[in-house]
Amino acid sequence: LSLFPFPSSLFPLPSPLFPLPGPPHHLKPMPHPSLPNLLVLDHPLIQHKLTLLRDRATSTRDFKHLVSEIAMLMAYEATKDLPTEAVEIDTPLERMQGRMVSDKKLTLVPILRAGLGMVDGVSELLPTARVGHIGVARDETSLEPTRYYAKIPGDPSEPNADLSVRATDRDFFILDPMLATGGSATAAVTTLKTAGARRIRFLCIVAAPEGVRRMLDGHPDVRIYAAALDRGLNGQGYIVPGLGDAGDRLFGTR
Ligand code: PRP
Ligand code: URA
Repeated sequence: LSLFPFPSSLFPLPSPLFPLPGPPHHLKPMPHPSLPNLLVLDHPLIQHKLTLLRDRATSTRDFKHLVSEIAMLMAYEATKDLPTEAVEIDTPLERMQGRMVSDKKLTLVPILRAGLGMVDGVSELLPTARVGHIGVARDETSLEPTRYYAKIPGDPSEPNADLSVRATDRDFFILDPMLATGGSATAAVTTLKTAGARRIRFLCIVAAPEGVRRMLDGHPDVRIYAAALDRGLNGQGYIVPGLGDAGDRLFGTR
């Protein structure tokens, strides 16, 4: 006899004997078969928002909002293997040991300009993370990167830097919506490693195989998280199908 007007087999309750199944194996993010440094995050919400982002009719205001939302959803996946530490707390009922992420060590590093659009979204999940900045401009003709700015938390070569947590001990998250030739990304990683960084993740929204391969050759230790792996680059070095110039769409400059 059931209290519900439905057969209970239609609405099974979790029990130790009949646990609810986890996500099917094929729905878990898996490293790409030929690009082991890449994880494509194909969560339905990320894909939905990415489609809106790609649409040329999307306004600057919506573009900004979508970049931030996608970055937040990606951060959830990209922080999955962060170490936690035991902490003692008092619940209203008793003392217990919980686990917390050691948040002093988390560091976001947007690549200017377009990476700035991802900072607020990731910071929603990691509110106490420090933020460094790396400015890299890609030459429109040669496509080669030029670094014009860098300020990295915990960098011992920086005069008057706060070295309470050095770059060596930090977990870095480089943020840039676009990984095209990979020139900007490899330059940013080199900058962080020169400051002492050892644990670096790279979060981008759209990646091209060319850029992922360049990172694999130059920095195979850096895992790349992307919302999509696109077909490739066009003659001007734009990702296709892509979403156009991320910086210009984000800041309304073209
Ligand atoms: C874009 C993008 C990446 C870079 C990717 O920045 O945000 O940083 O290009 O291209 P790559 O992989 O071939 O280096 P851009 O240099 O246009 O600067 P902006 O963000 O200031 O517009
Ligand atoms: N940078 C962008 O903003 N878009 C691309 O497609 C390639 C590089």
